[in-house]
Amino acid sequence: MAIATAREVFELLRDDLVAIEQELGRDAASSVSTITEIAEYLREGGGKRIRPSLLLLAAHLMDFFGPSAIRLGAVVEMLHTATLVHDDIIDNAHTRRGRPSPNTTWGNEKCVLAGDWLYMQAFKVALEEQNLRVLDLLIDLTKQMVEGELLQIQKLGRAVSEAEYYDLIFRKTACLFSTSMRLGAVLAGASEAQEAALATYGRAVGLAFQIVDDVLDLTATEEVLGKPVASDLREGKATLAVIHSIDHGTAKDRQTIQRVLDDRSFEHVSRERIQEILDRNGSVDYARAAADQYAEQSRQALQAFPDSDFKRALLWVPDFVVAREK
Ligand code: IPE
Ligand code: IPE
Ligand code: MG
Ligand code: MG
Repeated sequence: MAIATAREVFELLRDDLVAIEQELGRDAASSVSTITEIAEYLREGGGKRIRPSLLLLAAHLMDFFGPSAIRLGAVVEMLHTATLVHDDIIDNAHTRRGRPSPNTTWGNEKCVLAGDWLYMQAFKVALEEQNLRVLDLLIDLTKQMVEGELLQIQKLGRAVSEAEYYDLIFRKTACLFSTSMRLGAVLAGASEAQEAALATYGRAVGLAFQIVDDVLDLTATEEVLGKPVASDLREGKATLAVIHSIDHGTAKDRQTIQRVLDDRSFEHVSRERIQEILDRNGSVDYARAAADQYAEQSRQALQAFPDSDFKRALLWVPDFVVAREK
């Protein structure tokens, strides 16, 4: 079956995405100006809106069209935004979406609270659905994401296994992709099997997404990416390509990488030295191949659904995710 082009997907979702921006604008309003400023600042910064797009595509694939998909699309984007505000504090990051990150402009204290507010605002909007299943999914999701970030902190500086890495990236990233798909399915009254297939798709796309995000941290420039690069190692995080070099490189390679993880800086071991190790072991290619496999797995998950424009669009998303430069 033919895969849609980026332009076709954008056309397909254009009106819905405009409506979601309007909903986000309404939802960002607080009587406390700091909150509105931070929420507005992030909204203006753009972002790919990939999670609401997935929710819309899942709902439409199952023939559901209506305001609930717009509302819940805004909800998943708000939850995502809340995690970004908190994540940049935790990671001590200074850029986001090509601009100073909110913590840089407003400071950590205000941003912790603004993040909390955004979480609760997302739940308040979700409550309008009067659907306990929706709330249950969102609560489980939020717990997974918080646990993911906490586990990541616990593992900082350690050469984690691939299994630990996958558990982490499922919780911190793929779970939200999976839940976005599930919410679309729930709105449409999908069968259990359909919902499970869409959740599997979301999980696989989300894993591919974070693997690529981690590769871009090693290979991209801050100019293109709009957020810091080479930051994972400096934060003591071993991501898939690095784990591959640790597992398959020489004893010396392992030592060299561990030194950066211990130092949390490139002071004693240069970035170029790490690059050489990753290149020699084919580790970035290995990580990219893993992302490609998840992209393929996500397409497989859609097999049982009949042909439609929305299915063609969903088939495009994994291609976009693995090929993206930011
Ligand atoms: C960034 O997500 C956080 C990760 C899970 C890596 P996105 O890359 O979707 O961020 P925006 O919304 O497009 O800025
Ligand atoms: C994903 O982790 C962040 C969230 C789930 C919020 P990262 O720390 O790798 O994401 P970026 O690189 O800051 O966007
Ligand atoms: Mg971060
Ligand atoms: Mg982080």
